[in-house]
Amino acid sequence: MAVKLGVNIDHIATIREARKIREPDPVAAAVLAELAGCHGITAHLREDRRHIQDRDIRLLRGMVTTHLNMEMAPSPEMVQFALDLHPDMATLVPENRLEITTEGGLNVAAKAEELSQAIAKLKQNDILVSVFIDPESSQVKAAKKVGADFVEFHTGKYSNAYDMGDSREVESELSAIQDMTLLAHKYGLRINAGHGLNYRNVGPIAAIPHIEELNIGHSIIGRAALVGMERAVKEMLEAIRRADS
Ligand code: PXP
Repeated sequence: MAVKLGVNIDHIATIREARKIREPDPVAAAVLAELAGCHGITAHLREDRRHIQDRDIRLLRGMVTTHLNMEMAPSPEMVQFALDLHPDMATLVPENRLEITTEGGLNVAAKAEELSQAIAKLKQNDILVSVFIDPESSQVKAAKKVGADFVEFHTGKYSNAYDMGDSREVESELSAIQDMTLLAHKYGLRINAGHGLNYRNVGPIAAIPHIEELNIGHSIIGRAALVGMERAVKEMLEAIRRADS
């Protein structure tokens, strides 16, 4: 079965928050992404609320008809938020206020106790739980131990190597993701992947057996801005011309 696509709409909110006004609305972007055929919507409610706001995720919960994957830090505040919201899936990610994006995977092994409790609460409420990890065997084993349903492999190193043209590093990262996918599958975990994937580098990751869904944000939102530019400029020219007539 072909791998599914989860569209991360955070960057639409990033553009809106640059002006702190109402547009563009990430909820509208989610509806359009679903109309285009994506299989899920992903949004990261960060503790600093730098892009997605509480209002967005609540509206998304009501509007999304595919499945809503809420990315979140495994903090007590966020776990409570997820229990109230009831997304279809919670993806637990590390959060660092100074980072530009989620720069590495969660160190599940080092936070096993705290994560086991958070995961148990979410699962008791029928929320599927995924942990965002680097493709390393210690993290896969720890993910199994803490009771996660899914792992999401961080593809950032693979993507960077691909875009730098470093073919040795691409091969080594790709084989780490392939091997760790097999290990996770052997443990009965389900597997997603994402971060830094774009129109050039997605193919080899999409071809890995047992990966169910890719979560992709930046490249899709960036492409939407460019392929939509001509139409947006024409529509503004039309609005100006109407004022003339
Ligand atoms: N998956 C996770 C867990 C993420 O944190 C992110 C970034 O928010 C993505 C996927 C999407 O990454 P990108 O925006 O680089 O496609």
